Amino acid sequence: MLKILIIHGPNLNLLGTREPGIYGVVTLAKINQMLKSQAKKSKTRLVIKQSNHEGEIVDFIGEAGKNKFQGILINPAAYTHTSVAVRDAVAACGLPVVEVHLSNIYSREEFRHKSLISPVARGTILGFGAQSYLLGLAAICDLIESK
Ligand code: DQA
Repeated sequence: MLKILIIHGPNLNLLGTREPGIYGVVTLAKINQMLKSQAKKSKTRLVIKQSNHEGEIVDFIGEAGKNKFQGILINPAAYTHTSVAVRDAVAACGLPVVEVHLSNIYSREEFRHKSLISPVARGTILGFGAQSYLLGLAAICDLIESK
């Protein structure tokens, strides 16, 4: 059985009502439910965290190996563009990490065009709304299983 850590970054707790023209109307609870039902089919155990706090996200990533996770799926949200600490945690964790975004960050404001996380992630999936998460989960499971 695979054990995957899912991390949702800042403001993603507001999905459903947050800028629906950009992020859609699907709530975080619904995304988590979709992830869990996909995980169930592939006999994968998920632990899902959301935090608005950079240090807490760094802690989740840093403790993932010790907590016996085999991979991490993360939407770092705004920290994608600002956080050297999250990037360093990803680089140091020794686990495969897949980065996901609901929106296509490259078709938005210029400050979103740079991800500090992408160079240290195994791959990035973006622009498909809630589906980005499901594609990301499939990708991380494949990565671990083909290791
Ligand atoms: C986001 C894109 C980020 O630029 C933004 O700060 C978010 C969400 C996305 O999923 O599209 O909070 O990561």
